[in-house]
Amino acid sequence: MPSPSASIPTHVAIIMDGNGRWAKQRGLPRIEGHRRGVDTVRTIINASRELGIRYITLYAFSVENWKRPQDEVGALMGLLEYFLKKELANLVKDKVRLLTIGRTQEMPENVRTLLQKAVEATSSFTGHTLVLALNYGARTEMVDAARAYAQAVAAGEVKLNDSSWETFSRYLNTADIPDPDLVIRTSGEMRISNFLLLQAAYAEFVFTPVLWPDFTKADLAAAVETYAKRERRFGLTSEQLKPAAT
Ligand code: FPP
Repeated sequence: MPSPSASIPTHVAIIMDGNGRWAKQRGLPRIEGHRRGVDTVRTIINASRELGIRYITLYAFSVENWKRPQDEVGALMGLLEYFLKKELANLVKDKVRLLTIGRTQEMPENVRTLLQKAVEATSSFTGHTLVLALNYGARTEMVDAARAYAQAVAAGEVKLNDSSWETFSRYLNTADIPDPDLVIRTSGEMRISNFLLLQAAYAEFVFTPVLWPDFTKADLAAAVETYAKRERRFGLTSEQLKPAAT
């Protein structure tokens, strides 16, 4: 369990929302909002590193996003390809490890190849990690984990009676990633939208009206400041968390 007093969250997870509205407000096609959203992705990867945040997870494409108009889905895949090609050198230069969560095996082959290359090229870095949630949905992740867990039980690798959150959570996509301390959603929507439902059990939430293309390092720093003022109790009382008077 992270320290209740840590003022810089170890892991910040972000629901990047509002690209479409940003474009609409300017009379631009939705894809232009996503394009500007990619610029923000770059800014926020740098900003989180500079703020000392060790893990950042970005909800880039959900399992539900396939149902968007085909031209938008195609454009998002194109942007992802562009991002992976362009940013790999920066990730290596800045020693940022890339991980993914989600059913990436169902992503287009060119994206899969680029992801694999980037994950391998950055696998030795330990200071900062960027996690891209791609074809991700918490319920799908849960079903996949339950299936893998059942197989491990059937194979005798896990004893059903030893079941616990610690043993089960090893089968989630996030097995090697600490739980998010802070979840941010941009654009004023106040929903979790099937994102890290189990991992965010004790996360703090910050909802900001800023649309993702307009989200800046200062907005991230403000969210971290809000987080630092919260008292994380993990089910305990406020008094239990205070050091005993001597
Ligand atoms: C939500 O805005 C955003 C998305 C569904 C996609 C997020 C993708 C990017 C920022 C670009 C690609 C990502 C990477 C990592 C290269 P919305 O379209 O739902 O906005 P709206 O609610 O205003 O319509």
